[in-house]
Amino acid sequence: MTPEVAPNAVAAVSAARHWDRLMAMAAFGGFTDADGHPGVNRPACSPEDIAARRLLLGWGAELGLAASVDAQGNLFLRQEGVEPGLAPVMTGSHMDSQPNGGRFDGIWGVLAGLEAIQALRDAGVTPRRPIELVAWTNEEGGRFAPGCMGSMAWAGHSPRDTWDDVTDGDGVRFGDALSAMLASESDIPRRPLGVTAGGPAPFAYVECHIEQGPRLESAGLDIGVVTGIQGSRWFLVEIVGRTDHAGTTPLQLRRDAVQDMVRAINALNALMHDPADVLRFTIGRIEVSPNAGNTVADRVRFTIDCRHPDGAELDRRADAVAATVGEAMRTCTAYVTERFRAAPSVFAPLVQEAIQRAADAQGLASTRLPSGAFHDAQFMVPICPSGMVFIPCRGGVSHHPSEYSTPEQCANGVRVLTQVLADLASR
Ligand code: GLV
Ligand code: MN
Ligand code: MN
Repeated sequence: MTPEVAPNAVAAVSAARHWDRLMAMAAFGGFTDADGHPGVNRPACSPEDIAARRLLLGWGAELGLAASVDAQGNLFLRQEGVEPGLAPVMTGSHMDSQPNGGRFDGIWGVLAGLEAIQALRDAGVTPRRPIELVAWTNEEGGRFAPGCMGSMAWAGHSPRDTWDDVTDGDGVRFGDALSAMLASESDIPRRPLGVTAGGPAPFAYVECHIEQGPRLESAGLDIGVVTGIQGSRWFLVEIVGRTDHAGTTPLQLRRDAVQDMVRAINALNALMHDPADVLRFTIGRIEVSPNAGNTVADRVRFTIDCRHPDGAELDRRADAVAATVGEAMRTCTAYVTERFRAAPSVFAPLVQEAIQRAADAQGLASTRLPSGAFHDAQFMVPICPSGMVFIPCRGGVSHHPSEYSTPEQCANGVRVLTQVLADLASR
């Protein structure tokens, strides 16, 4: 065991205050599912998201943190350091949820950062470097696809306006929803978007998140030191045929978009088949038009999410998606658009080691593990040393209202983060 950095700050973490804030945030978009699970429905840039951000801003103001927002809606709360000109240590995550998601995915990382900063302040620790808490815009991509629009724009992965014309299920443009959110936050100072415009690159970035998988819980561990994130590629497939009368039109004369979609999905299942069960392949959303029981569908749209830790293997399969879909068409025409591409990323030894030291010093049982989920942290990897802290979640369940980590598991993660921030911000 190494001596703890800032032990008083670690001791100043309030598990109760942190839990109360998590539960207060869960009220924004809170609902109970048919099985009685208390979930959250907080799409990016929705009234619920805006209200949740306002609550965060209020807590930040109580602590005297300097708030700012950029043109992509990324929200920042800054704790000044002893040497304000130094590159900051950044921490945070996202506040939007999946449709019918849980109370911890994303928001826990934001509130962990707030609690850690408060604990440092309560213990009278002013680190050498500034610490910036960030809430990235639209990590989930559940309302506006893809996810990670905030961090991708901030990190220069894609131009800011790349997704302005993306629409949600009601036809609302992302650009318009973002403008409305920014208009409601016109009292918050604007900061330039991204690192080149906003000053020095961060010294480091650390994101806390629930594991969203079963490994920590099943091994009885407290902390995951995340080693990296597997690669992801997303596609949107649109199949266009022709409407016809379901009772009168012979099958041979139809251009049935649903039938060609079924052929495409079968071909994709064969393309993505992985006996080792490492590759993740998901078709999670299907829209059929006109969606009438007695009319042949003329239009189908479906999503593809595929992921693999080996970038070459991911590309080998994903590069074949468009041809596979095209060859499966019998009577319709298919259009395949790639919507998201994130290469596998590896987290920095600097951050992994700081997390490992903190967990060891605090007597918490930990392991190193990769992330199957994508996170904003992967877009920070090219910018600065980056890493993530995982805590267990019940049954490994996430993207579901029953998602749950205990108050103590959450507090363990915050205590580790507090020490990591104190450590990195003192360098
Ligand atoms: C993030 O929510 C992901 O889908 O990995
Ligand atoms: Mn998340
Ligand atoms: Mn998620």
